[in-house]
Amino acid sequence: MAAPRKLAAGNWKMNGMRGALSEIEALARAHNGSRAEIVICPPATLIAAAAQAGGSVVAIGGQDCHRLDSGAHTGDISAPQLRDAGASHVIVGHSERRTNHAETDAMIADKAIAAHEAGLVTIICVGETEAERDGGETLDVIAGQLAGSVPECATAENSVIAYEPVWAIGTGRTPTNDQITEVHALLRERLMQRFADGEDFRLLYGGSVKPSNASEIFALANVDGALVGGASLKESDFSAIIAALNES
Ligand code: 13P
Repeated sequence: MAAPRKLAAGNWKMNGMRGALSEIEALARAHNGSRAEIVICPPATLIAAAAQAGGSVVAIGGQDCHRLDSGAHTGDISAPQLRDAGASHVIVGHSERRTNHAETDAMIADKAIAAHEAGLVTIICVGETEAERDGGETLDVIAGQLAGSVPECATAENSVIAYEPVWAIGTGRTPTNDQITEVHALLRERLMQRFADGEDFRLLYGGSVKPSNASEIFALANVDGALVGGASLKESDFSAIIAALNES
């Protein structure tokens, strides 16, 4: 099978007003014909307009979805609604959702199933806390999250796995190259044990990725792209990361 396309995904989290759509327009102008796939996950309020702004160059994703398609769930958004608004992707299991909304692996797997049924590509996040790393539990934690959060219906086409160490998110700290390589090797091994196309799943690194460290991270084995927070908010920073990925 052909090597899967590399992926640069930006997670805007709870940032961005309508004025920020110009960043997506600029990305779309700058990266027409990009080898790497580009996805921006803006707040839900901007998804429909962002899909227009991104056109065929920048795909748009949600940051979460409900496990059900519709119903009495005030404040929640379903996978078919994301799709209807113009999204093609959705992040599930981000550590901020796991922590702030007490999401469990089982809940995340259910969301991923709903997303796949709606035709969305899931970006399923895993990552250890600093205490877990200090306690030598990193690989066990990651293996457990992967086993519990990735549903049986996952394929290399409909799922991307993002390794985001919780202690590296928004802190400016990144793991060593060896630490990233060790976790990504585990992800690859477990996916290959479980899925016939496990070799083709794209594995993203996330946590304080910026223009100055992107090339080094993209050179590592089993790193197929990045899930970027803060540095995805400005077109210039994210463009530099996309350029590094295209050169890797
Ligand atoms: P930062 O790139 O801001 O560290 O955020 C990473 C992240 O959580 C992306 O989902």
